[in-house]
Amino acid sequence: MKALITSGGRGTRLRPLTHTQNKHLIPIANKPILHYAIEYAVEAGIKEIGIVHGAESDAVPKGIGDGSNWGINITYIPQNAPLGLAHVVKISQDFIGDDKFIFYLGDNIVVGGLKRFVNAFEQAKSNCHLTLAKVNDPERFGVPEIKGNRIISVEEKPKNPKSHFAVAGIYLYDSTIFEAVNNIKPSARGELEISDAHQYLLDNNFHVSYSEITGWWKDTGKPQDLLEANRLVLDNIEENNNAKQVKNSSILGNVQIGEGSVIKNSSIRGPVVIGKNCEIHDAYIGPYTAIYNDCTIKNSEVEYSILLSECKIVDVNIRIEHSLLGNDVEIVKAVGHPSTHRFFVGDQSRIELL
Ligand code: DAU
Repeated sequence: MKALITSGGRGTRLRPLTHTQNKHLIPIANKPILHYAIEYAVEAGIKEIGIVHGAESDAVPKGIGDGSNWGINITYIPQNAPLGLAHVVKISQDFIGDDKFIFYLGDNIVVGGLKRFVNAFEQAKSNCHLTLAKVNDPERFGVPEIKGNRIISVEEKPKNPKSHFAVAGIYLYDSTIFEAVNNIKPSARGELEISDAHQYLLDNNFHVSYSEITGWWKDTGKPQDLLEANRLVLDNIEENNNAKQVKNSSILGNVQIGEGSVIKNSSIRGPVVIGKNCEIHDAYIGPYTAIYNDCTIKNSEVEYSILLSECKIVDVNIRIEHSLLGNDVEIVKAVGHPSTHRFFVGDQSRIELL
């Protein structure tokens, strides 16, 4: 069995972060989102992974490498434009050949790994195995209609969903999926939809089975989803303190601190992950916060937030919460007169003030 993982698309809902960075390389609990997908596949025993990436950038091949870190082989498949998930499958036919494969959307995070779905697919001996998750907003997803214990239709982002399930971004296929993706037509939005490929399989009497995802699953399409995924991953971390110095500080709960970091006169309440070479002085870092390398937090409070590298939060007298800061972002106290808020903010940023 092989795995095919996506890392293309436009990432529009995560702007401005995705103006300068591929969304699949954004860290959740200080680890790039794509690493989770690769590690799930490795854990399921897969040794050959194909990663589809936007042809315009080599950020993903450069950032992820050839797979030797994980003892596997990664093949990169460039996609000229984001023409849909069924298009991703279509251009990967040479890589997959006659093998069965897991198609994994690289922006999905699931706890509990993939092995259980591989087992269910093998047991069902089906052509396609879908994974379903109960959601409150099915209209954002591919939605199955289920009768008895069979899926009878799948619709992409329907206005009137026929169930409360989302088809999650973990699909298992045999090579009949290529007949489907080679026969469907682009949708109204100009994409070859994976839901239409599933409908093709149903219409042509191929066997489509499914599993319900019982743990949690998250599609990290929007900023709030990233914070929520961060929370869920941090819930499972273990303590690992490699700080260079911890002085006059209290550290409670599961907290990971990277090499070279200095914590002084501060209070840290886990689960929290702090990267390398950070300076945390006279600060409070609250639960569910991930701070990447080379950040400085002084005389300020941060909770339930993600900070990418080289952020500076200094002398801010209101707690920062529910926030997502890109690389090299500064939030500092304004000094001098007039006493005003001052902003130097890039395109499509969002600021909420009291
Ligand atoms: O997350 C589950 C949902 O994923 C399913 O319920 C939907 O049926 C499925 O269409 C998909 O919907 P999204 O709107 O979330 O797909 P998105 O455009 O965000 O793309 C998902 C992943 O695939 C992401 O890693 C970006 C990548 N991608 C997307 C397209 C359209 C590509 O690599 N190439 C593409 O052409």
